[in-house]
Amino acid sequence: MAAEDKSVDEEKKETPQTLREKIENHTARVAVIGLGYVGLPLAVEMGKVGFDVTGVDTSARKVELVASGKSDVLGISEFEVAGLKAVGKLSATQSYDCIDVADVVVVCVPTPLDKTRDPDVSFILSAFGEIKSRLHGDQLVILESTTYPGTTYELVLPLLEESGLKAGQDFYLAFSPERVDPGNQIYTITNTPKVVGGITEVCTEVASHFYQQLITDVVPVSSTQAAEMAKLLENTFRSVNIGLVNEVALMCDRLDIDVWEVIDAAATKPFGFMPFYPGPGLGGHCIPIDPHYLAWKLKTLDFNARFIELASEVTRSMPAHVVSKVVDVLNDFEKSLKGSSVLILGATYKPDVGDVRESPALDILEMLQEKGAKVSYHDPFIPKIQIDMLDLTCVDLDEARLKKADCVVITTHHSAYDYEWIVQQARCVVDTRNATKHVRGAKSNVVKL
Ligand SMILES: NC(=O)c1ccc[n+]([C@@H]2O[C@H](COP(=O)([O-])OP(=O)(O)OC[C@H]3O[C@@H](n4cnc5c(N)ncnc54)[C@H](O)[C@@H]3O)[C@@H](O)[C@H]2O)c1
Repeated sequence: MAAEDKSVDEEKKETPQTLREKIENHTARVAVIGLGYVGLPLAVEMGKVGFDVTGVDTSARKVELVASGKSDVLGISEFEVAGLKAVGKLSATQSYDCIDVADVVVVCVPTPLDKTRDPDVSFILSAFGEIKSRLHGDQLVILESTTYPGTTYELVLPLLEESGLKAGQDFYLAFSPERVDPGNQIYTITNTPKVVGGITEVCTEVASHFYQQLITDVVPVSSTQAAEMAKLLENTFRSVNIGLVNEVALMCDRLDIDVWEVIDAAATKPFGFMPFYPGPGLGGHCIPIDPHYLAWKLKTLDFNARFIELASEVTRSMPAHVVSKVVDVLNDFEKSLKGSSVLILGATYKPDVGDVRESPALDILEMLQEKGAKVSYHDPFIPKIQIDMLDLTCVDLDEARLKKADCVVITTHHSAYDYEWIVQQARCVVDTRNATKHVRGAKSNVVKL
């Protein structure tokens, strides 16, 4: 049949085939918007399967890093970035012009909270504003940033359709949440199942087809809202359980019971129990923030997300609880917090990653400093802290430093630390992570959460 004999409907049916073919034979050109913890690893995986990937980032530093074959994201080696760059499979730019020729666009920009702890979707709006003016037919556009249910359908879709193109017919729009766990050696991008929900069935199908090229298990759902909600369920589940176990820690403190022993004992039940652990608070870009996206959306529907608010309230009280433990410990030595030297071990929000976003260690440092303690910190990943009221440089961790401190607080259980040595040298230790669990001998100078 000659091309001119084809009906409009047949033409439309053929459109996804063209994109599908490019996806299938890995000749599709992909643009990844945002080269952070999520975007860079994705760009690298896509480049590894043979796609031609261009990363777009507003930060000149991020672009320069990729352009010079370097990486600042844990788990992504410079060897990988430089190798892909050398064979022309990965490049980076601050300009959105690559969208003009991109077949697939994946958006991984930040979704923080604003000062009133409401969702700040300005990065999403800014990125899609740029994409809209360059959107073209037969293009697949995917949002990966974590956000409230309805963002893709209510915000992104109308914005992109201002271009005159229609989703599901002219272009394909989907939401697919990112589940990357920085530092996780077992579950990586390729072996972590990927949930995908499109605006239409064909959008879901095309987006799933794309992810199947690099991810073993793709899980299609019926809508973008279901995909957005699945991610928020996962993170709310963690947040609520962490809130619960933090409250159990506070209860055990009152009852003079070791919460860590209790959790280990409960965890021997082979069914119906999953251990979560208390700590000095919640950190990172996801768990302290994402559930508030859901709570905010529900507020607009006159629904109060009580579990989310309660878990957040309990967990946000934990830094103050740690400070009160330090006060109690110093009291035993007939010392006041004011004027005492307190050494914090670990500034990052979790062990063995170089990320201090929302880290409770920063809150603890700030609270101690406000109360007149002479604070210092050590973290093998963080040479400097210059945030809000804090302007600190990482100190050396040696015998003299440990001996000099009136109190040492373990806020992050980095695997590089020798806890036995720390306990031996320090006058007293507040251990918020049960990091000293395996230290042998007398530990009368250790106070746990
Ligand atoms: N970090 C995680 O472990 C994780 C896990 C799952 C989901 N997420 C979600 O993924 C999204 C991205 O998180 P992240 O940790 O990669 O953030 P990030 O801050 O590490 O990286 C985001 C990047 O986007 C860039 N950027 C900001 N606005 C831009 C714009 N308009 N155009 C182009 N680039 C822009 C920033 O310069 C930055 O390099 C968030 O929604 C987050 O909640 C993160």
